[in-house]
Amino acid sequence: MIYLDHAATSFPKPERVFRAIDDFARTSAANPGRGGHHRATEAEAMMEDTRRLLARLFGSSRPERVVFTLNATDALNMAIKGVLKPGDHVITSVLEHNSVSRPLNRLANEGVITLTRLEVGADHRIDPGDVEKAFLPATRLVAITQASNVTGTIQPVDEIGKVVRQRDALFLVDAAQSAGVIPIHMEQASIDLLAFTGHKALLGPTGTGGLLVGGRALVTPWREGGTGGDSADPVQPSSYPYHLEGGTPNVMGLAGLREGIRSLMERGVETVLPHERKLLASFRSALKDPDKFQWYGDKDGVGLVSLNLSGFTPAELAGILDGQFDIAVRAGLHCAPYAHRHLGTFPDGTVRISVGWSTTEADMKAAARALNEISATPATF
Ligand code: ALA
Repeated sequence: MIYLDHAATSFPKPERVFRAIDDFARTSAANPGRGGHHRATEAEAMMEDTRRLLARLFGSSRPERVVFTLNATDALNMAIKGVLKPGDHVITSVLEHNSVSRPLNRLANEGVITLTRLEVGADHRIDPGDVEKAFLPATRLVAITQASNVTGTIQPVDEIGKVVRQRDALFLVDAAQSAGVIPIHMEQASIDLLAFTGHKALLGPTGTGGLLVGGRALVTPWREGGTGGDSADPVQPSSYPYHLEGGTPNVMGLAGLREGIRSLMERGVETVLPHERKLLASFRSALKDPDKFQWYGDKDGVGLVSLNLSGFTPAELAGILDGQFDIAVRAGLHCAPYAHRHLGTFPDGTVRISVGWSTTEADMKAAARALNEISATPATF
């Protein structure tokens, strides 16, 4: 199988990630903070170590404010529902995944907040000047994705962060597609809330992710419950990470995530984007006639490209790639309907090819060969 769906989840994980989960599950996977015995202490130490790694990776000086969640969606909901109050105004963009758009749309539909959804230009970039112009006295939050999961476009978060900070609002960045792909320094970029998933470029298992909460953000707990310590307190403790971390955590998953991050950091985050861009360039150069396809990707973006081929719906093309060539890609709207409206590809969407740590030049050439064959003799498919 040729796996070109890393933007959905990285596959396979590095062997050492599988081993770390297995070892941890067999030896130390007790309930952190819920016992004084040494296995519970080991589990807690593993979580603290993972928080430290993540804080270092994302430019935060406060590891205790790395809050573990199930995935980026969970983290984004925690941030959005935890900071917004009735009457607030929010600025977002058309490039957002439904994990940002849907919670915001519901709050807006119920009259709790007002919402400005910024359009983007032909280059798919959010103009920091547009963010500035959209500010209202009630603007509390600016919520944007750092890298689009449809076009790959990397947004100018540093510039947007400056605008948001000057206006004294909060800046929420969805790093689902950028964490582990591009260097991020949340404090330098004036990011108040950074949501990430563990199972994409951080190379961990599904069921892992988190929210980094900067010092300016007051987040009301969304999930309240047991935290191990402070059991006498009738309400959720105010100290981090417990403030936002009720319930038994996914310790086995986090043991795998820690190993994924270690493997990424040993390779160096700065090496990931050049690797991904080189792969996409090989793919394009191996296509006999690239002009037969409609292209929607951003060549300066993260490692994904969206395309269509006349005569096939995206679902048909992806089905042929899967069924006849054993190549895994993702077709459709990619949970980002406004992005596809912006591209003019709504409602069928596009075929998205996305690369990752394990993708090789040979994989890209095989994908190009398959598309060469399909586009040369479409009637035979
Ligand atoms: N949000 C992930 C994707 O883009 C799952 O495929």
